Parts: sequence; structure tokens; C-alpha cells
Amino acid sequence: MKLMVIGGGGREHAIIKSLKKNPKVEVIFALPGNGGIAKDATCVNISATDIDGIVNFARDNAIDYAVVAPDDPLVLGCVDRLNEIGIPCFGPKANAAIIEGSKVFAKNLMKKYGIPTAKYETFDNAAAALAYLENAPIPTVVKADGLALGKGVIIAQTREEAKTAVRDMMEGGVFGKSGSRIVIEEFLTGPEVSVLAFTDGTVVKPMVSSMDHKRIGDNDTGLNTGGMGTVAPNPYYTPAIAEQCMQEIFLPTVAAMNAEGRTFRGCLYFGLMLTPDGPKVIEYNCRFGDPETQVVLPLLESDLLTVMLATTNGTLADTEVLFSDKHACCVIQASAGYPTAYQKGYPITMTEEAERATYVAGAKLENSKLVTSGGRVTGTTAVADTLVEAISEAYRLCRGVCFEKAYHRNDIGQRALQAFK
Ligand code: AMP
Ligand code: GLY
Repeated sequence: MKLMVIGGGGREHAIIKSLKKNPKVEVIFALPGNGGIAKDATCVNISATDIDGIVNFARDNAIDYAVVAPDDPLVLGCVDRLNEIGIPCFGPKANAAIIEGSKVFAKNLMKKYGIPTAKYETFDNAAAALAYLENAPIPTVVKADGLALGKGVIIAQTREEAKTAVRDMMEGGVFGKSGSRIVIEEFLTGPEVSVLAFTDGTVVKPMVSSMDHKRIGDNDTGLNTGGMGTVAPNPYYTPAIAEQCMQEIFLPTVAAMNAEGRTFRGCLYFGLMLTPDGPKVIEYNCRFGDPETQVVLPLLESDLLTVMLATTNGTLADTEVLFSDKHACCVIQASAGYPTAYQKGYPITMTEEAERATYVAGAKLENSKLVTSGGRVTGTTAVADTLVEAISEAYRLCRGVCFEKAYHRNDIGQRALQAFK
């Protein structure tokens, strides 16, 4: 089979390494891929948001199956366009990708179908939002409606901070059109859990749970990032909570999307918070998480391509989705300065064993040498029998991935370990 994977980060590298294990795969094209992915796939310099370019490439190269990994092309209708020319895809159509593309849509869906989430109000004009904030409980959470590279959420500790966020989004245009509508919601507390789930629109098969580390600094301090590391499984997510989530959140969400005429097929990502009142949805994503994928797929024992095809063909009920009972930890290395200003172009060296364990996110080839080209540069994953071992092995392997001004958090997995205390 000739496969095409849209995207070019660590998540896509992990997906490609998994897909390659299937002997039926003859070639994988990555659009655009990156300098590290080039070891495992044929990179093609077409951007993930160039839908016309992607469709033309797929047609010209007789692609058998496409995996659309990032949010933007999904929301832009990449799957719809590829389906129109007869190419089956992993991922939802645009009318279902809206579950991530619009937070207002997602919140209204949850309210309509009784799916537990934070209480909220939506606004499309700043004056009304500012008036509401005069009496809103503090802390409060201000969210831009549309996609904002994971940065459209402000946890405001004071009324002034919340008002500034509203002005920035609705009047300052810091997130462009994404901020012209906003959600203001109740601040929730509790451990966070990411659950990615395969669904064919009827059956839901959750993957092993995981925990992201979104802040740049140790002990969850500093700015939000795209994710600085992950562990799986998430020890706060017990079998009893998993069953509760299946009944109260996962199945109702898939049913709600069907009822709305927006059948979701692909990977549905549930960002959950285990609050004192039970699990609640913080966010939906219409795709695999990054860097959750880098710990979840290494634990997948079933064949990824077979499972993906089952979500597309509606045969997930008959398809085994098995995970190992081991533990995984992924440590991201970023360029110092990320998530604000950082330098690019530093050469990257990796020992052989580190390279085998590493997914490349922000790097390109320059004269056949790998150099940094992004904020988050690499993610190094270890799998072991216990979480403690996975963490120490991931950090050991990480020392084999070197570039100037590399930065990583030193506490990936520590919050998860506290669950055992
Ligand atoms: P999101 O981009 O929606 O994943 O939000 C980023 C982060 O903000 C989440 O991972 C949570 O840590 C936090 N967050 C979002 N919504 C809430 C909420 N209602 N209460 C508390 N924290 C939240
Ligand atoms: N790790 C969070 C996300 O992929 O959005």
C-alpha cells in the first residue's frame, strides 16, 4: 500500500514509525514531514494546510490511504477533499472536526447532550464579556473559539487578567479570527488525563490513557507550550473512572455527533479533568495528541494500520485494539527560549540507541545534517515495566540527543508518581 501522512511533527513521526511495521506498506509519503522523519518516510515539501497541493499529490501518486494528523487540515476539510477523489482517509470530515475547530460548538454540544463539562457562557462581543466578568467567579478561564496553536486558553487569577484576555482576543486580535468569539468558563480542579480513542462513528475503543505536561517549567510553572513531555498510562485514571468516562462521556459524545449529522471517524481526543464532582471534559481534539501519541503508540500491540482502516471502514467492532501493560515516558527537548523567542539552525547529534527512541519534531536537513528548525525539537520515549523505570530510562536516552541550548523539564512523570503515594 502507498500511504500518505499529513503533518510534520513528533506525533507524525510516531505515527509513521508505527505504520511502517505493517509489511503491506510499500511507501509512506510525509507532507511535509521533517528532517528526522526523512529517515522513515519520503518527505514531500507540501505544507499540511495546502489542501489543493495535498489533493494533487495524492491523485498524481495514486495514494491508497491518507492519514491526516494535524487539526488545521482536518478543520479545513482535507478528508472531504481526498474522499471526493476516491482516497480513503484516517480522520474526521470538516463537519465533525468542528468539535475541535470551535470551542463554542463543543461546549454547546456538551450542554445539549448532558456531557459533563465546566459551566460556561459564550460571547461574540467584548462589552458583554467584560460586563459578565464584573461578577464572574475568580479564577476564571477565557478561551478563544477557534484554533490558536494550543495557546488560546487563559487561566485568569484576577478579574483584571480576565478582562485583559478578553480585550486581547476580541479587540486586539491576538488570535486573529479565532478570538472573535470566546468562551468564559468555570475554573475546574483535579488531575488532568488525556484519552485518545479510535472510533468508527459507532464503536469507541479508547487507547491507553496519558498525562501531558503543558507548562514550560518544572513543577508546572511558566508559559503554556505544545507539551513538554508525557507518560502513559495515567495512574489517576483508574478502571472505575475509565468505565464512568465511557458511559458518561465517550459514548454520549459519539452518539451526539451522529445525532447532529456529524459522524466522527478517526481519533477523538478527550482532554479530561478528574474533578471532585467526577470526570469532566476540558477539551476535545479531532486528532491524535502531541506529545501523547509519542507514549501511546509505543504501547500499542495491535497493528496501527489495521485499526486505522477499521475506523474508516466502520469495522472497529471486529478489530482488536490491544495495548501492552507496560509504562512509557516521553521527554521533549526544546530550544532554549521556547515558547517565545528561540534560535534555530543548531546541529543535532544522536547516539544510535537514542535515535531509535526519538521522534523528531522541529528539525530539518541542511547539507544532509540534521539541524534544529523549531521550538520543540525532539521527543525521546522509553518503555519499561514500571513508571519509575520508564522515566529514568527516558532521561538516560535523552542525554544521547544533543544540540546547543537544548532545554527539557526535569520532572516529567513526577506528578504521575504521586498518584501511587
Ligand atoms: P486547552 O488548550 O483547552 O487544552 O487548555 C489548556 C489547559 O488549560 C488545559 O490543559 C488545562 O490545564 C487548562 N484549562 C482549560 N480549561 C480549564 C478549566 N475550565 N479549568 C481549569 N483549567 C483549565
Ligand atoms: N497535547 C495536547 C494536544 O495535542 O493538543
